[in-house]
Amino acid sequence: MPVPRPIARDARGVIPRGRCIGPLAESRVGRNPSLEHIAGGAGRHRTEADRANTETFDMILLTGGAGYIGSHVCVALLDAGLDVIAVDNLSNSNKQSLERVQSICGRSPIFRQADIRNEEAIYEILRAWDVTAVIHLAGLKAVGDSNLRPLTYYENNVLGTMRLVSAMNRAKVKTLVFSSSATVYGMPAYLPLDEKHPLGPTNPYGRTKLFIEEMLKDLYRSDDDWRIGILRYFNPVGAHESGLIGEDPLGVPNNLLPLVAQVAVGKRERLLIWGNDYGTPDGTGIRDFIHVVDLASGHLSVLRYLKEPGVLTVNLGTGNGSSVLEVVRTFQAVSGRPVPYEIGERRAGDVAICYAAPMLASKALGWKSARSLEQMCEDHWRWQLKNPDGYRGARF
Ligand code: NAD
Ligand code: UFG
Repeated sequence: MPVPRPIARDARGVIPRGRCIGPLAESRVGRNPSLEHIAGGAGRHRTEADRANTETFDMILLTGGAGYIGSHVCVALLDAGLDVIAVDNLSNSNKQSLERVQSICGRSPIFRQADIRNEEAIYEILRAWDVTAVIHLAGLKAVGDSNLRPLTYYENNVLGTMRLVSAMNRAKVKTLVFSSSATVYGMPAYLPLDEKHPLGPTNPYGRTKLFIEEMLKDLYRSDDDWRIGILRYFNPVGAHESGLIGEDPLGVPNNLLPLVAQVAVGKRERLLIWGNDYGTPDGTGIRDFIHVVDLASGHLSVLRYLKEPGVLTVNLGTGNGSSVLEVVRTFQAVSGRPVPYEIGERRAGDVAICYAAPMLASKALGWKSARSLEQMCEDHWRWQLKNPDGYRGARF
């Protein structure tokens, strides 16, 4: 299984040009010309010496690779010396994110615009590129939207995963990392939330995650060759320290950090805080915010862990809760900009407090988040400043 390979970077996390590892993907393009490769050029091709320095040489299929978390996972994988084929239907993302990944890493993933519901397309990719493991992030993720369009969510997330896994089965690729969510826990019965906490998601989106988890466990029960990692993410925020990749929500953001950042940059007048009458020290909701770069590194740790067949279900969180008001204050401090807010009603379905027990990740994977709330806000702010209109209006 993959072993991370540290690569020198400058102070902003970008690999200096002279030190780029060439786009290996190009050397394989001839095998299937229908696969689109993000144009390379910055680096040289990987040499035999590079190969010898890499302890393993895996090709990872990354679904949802152009998305917010996907682009950061892509950086982590490429930095570790792995090869990546990113598959995305671009329903909620922009291919530019992967071009930026190339600037950061000095080599590019292969990109194929495809839908995970297209089993034949996925099967062909798995076979054509000798894929050894799949990291599956593709999915729809907006809680409110899932209440309005539940069938769309079941079709995209549950059926999509069924088709993906079915293609993997046929291609005999039986290592899978799946992005689940802390939302599967529902209303906390106790805190912090450990992996044994009862499950009871309160919306269709969360139920798609729960059903997929159960489906994957059934798959392993039926065929114990499978190696499956189920990652329950808490609240991913922040951006790569280069400011080149980050979260680029289409339309009105659903989550706190992008909204705070848009207020700070002047795109919105004020933040509406949904309730300050919770049983928390300042009355606002508390969440376990985790830096997206830390979250991405967790995927490498779990790939390394999956040497033996089995199913590992694990939280990826920091173990610390921060309130909405703490986030607002921290963001104001790091950006030097005011974040005006007003207090509104509670949002239906919100829990007061949600944070992880991160011990299993630390024990089983040797993984821990490292970055502080200040760093999350700083990196998010840098991304926002450099890309006020996301990938469409970059200032580079
Ligand atoms: P995102 O929307 O930025 O990325 C998801 C990507 O999947 C997008 O690029 C989208 O175009 C792609 N996609 C969607 N349906 C597809 C399909 N049928 N075929 C191919 N590609 C498809 O979201 P993200 O925040 O990067 O989330 C990634 C994963 O992590 C999702 O599965 C999400 O449910 C999960 N997750 C996210 C959060 C969060 O707060 N961001 C929290 C917990 C779990
Ligand atoms: N909040 C506001 N105002 C806003 C937006 C959010 O006050 O405009 C508050 C919420 O009430 C909550 C906190 O900020 O207390 C965080 O809200 P988010 O919407 O950013 O995040 P959630 O914890 O509600 O949900 C997120 C993802 C889910 C995922 C879950 C995992 O949206 O998909 O984290 O814990 F499942």
